[in-house]
Amino acid sequence: MLTDDRVRVAVFVSGGGTNLQALLDASKYGQLPSAEIALVIADRPDAGALERAASAGVVGAVVAPGKMFTERLREVLSSHMIEMVVLAGYLQKIPEAIVDRYEGRMINIHPSLLPKFGGKGWYGLRVHRGVLEQGEKATGATVHVVTAEFDDGPIILQKSVDVRDGDTPESLQERVKVEAEWQILPAATEQVAAEIVAGQR
Ligand code: GRF
Repeated sequence: MLTDDRVRVAVFVSGGGTNLQALLDASKYGQLPSAEIALVIADRPDAGALERAASAGVVGAVVAPGKMFTERLREVLSSHMIEMVVLAGYLQKIPEAIVDRYEGRMINIHPSLLPKFGGKGWYGLRVHRGVLEQGEKATGATVHVVTAEFDDGPIILQKSVDVRDGDTPESLQERVKVEAEWQILPAATEQVAAEIVAGQR
């Protein structure tokens, strides 16, 4: 552990960052006593999430994929003394060396009840379209530990959301975010951070 008794967390983002916002809000309202959101890493400079980070006074960095991706990620993570990673709508595959470095300390949010609608190719609206096409009555979101495989790894928290008549992929995506993702991502982040503080991870 470094500095105080809070774990220094980096959040990886590619898009608008509503899940990042849920984390920033949870932190602001004292719901993340074991975690400090210390850094936001985007894979592109126009990720809206970077503006959310700036508004909250959190350092943002852009690390675009390409040459020396692993080395550049490693450098920014270690220069900010990051101890835990949260993938919150991050579309790149994390290099294996980074997954190994944060074994058991890197989590991801996925918008389905894994293992359903998970794995390569299942992301964004495709997930919700799949749920509707297969006539599922319920869907939801999952936070899991990141391993070398997409959407694999032990599940930490899941929350289910009913599918309603007349749902579209867009309406389902929105409800899954509001009712499930924004609830379980802060909760799982705190849970894992508290376990790190307690020396259990
Ligand atoms: C969320 O649906 C998350 O589950 C998935 O990517 C989306 C990111 O949305 N991994 P946002 O950028 O947090 O709004």
